[in-house]
Amino acid sequence: MPEQTLTIALSKGRIYKDTLPLLAQAGIEPVDDPETSRKLILDTNHPEVKVVVIRATDVPTYVQYGAADVGVSGKDVLMEHGGEGIYEPLDLRIARCRLMVAGHPGATQRAGRLRVATKFVNTTRHYYAEQGRQVEIIKLYGSMELAPLVGLADCIVDLVDTGNTLRANGLEPLEHIADISSRLIVNKASMKMKSARVKALIQSLETAVSQAA
Ligand code: ADP
Ligand code: PRP
Ligand code: MG
Repeated sequence: MPEQTLTIALSKGRIYKDTLPLLAQAGIEPVDDPETSRKLILDTNHPEVKVVVIRATDVPTYVQYGAADVGVSGKDVLMEHGGEGIYEPLDLRIARCRLMVAGHPGATQRAGRLRVATKFVNTTRHYYAEQGRQVEIIKLYGSMELAPLVGLADCIVDLVDTGNTLRANGLEPLEHIADISSRLIVNKASMKMKSARVKALIQSLETAVSQAA
């Protein structure tokens, strides 16, 4: 992309939907809709601002390497990524949920090495290391709630919002690990090299967030 372009990385679905009104308040409106278009680089009403639509877990990677200047990413994804090469200047207060240990009631009480299924393997490893508890972590890519039902794991580490998914599967939230919301993230080099534009964007998003509150 040309040097003067500002590239914003978003993921489809929840984050795209919730970020759109904030961007609109900052004066940025995508021309194409990622739900109907197959385009991966969306034009906006500003010729020098592009939006790339990628998988949620890829957003920090694009921003870390400067393939996108800024992005919007869940704190869960950022914790798992580690945050190398990235600034996190603003909590957008969207896509809010909790990262929790969940399972059948009493699932984590039993002695011995727990089997924990999750897609958040790094965060889960840190969490249990801090507790001094030996666990075996089983990496899954989705539908974590199924694992305790079929005996794949004692418990899971997953996101909980309403608790409906847990309840529908006879599971309960057991331990709170972290409150989650989505953050604006910025490539460290872009913060210096495109400082005026990036800072203006942070400022207008900050205003939009405080007005949404
Ligand atoms: P994915 O396809 O990776 O699951 P999502 O759009 O479901 O992408 O999730 C993107 C981000 O939204 C997550 O990283 C998390 O921060 C947040 N999130 C996920 N599930 C929920 C939920 N049920 N309620 C609120 N926020 C959520
Ligand atoms: C997320 C998360 C949980 C569910 C929690 O799934 O992985 O399964 O939401 O929300 P609740 O507590 O309100 O039920 P999502 O809807 O994103 O589905 P997917 O990631 O499996 O596509
Ligand atoms: Mg999801």
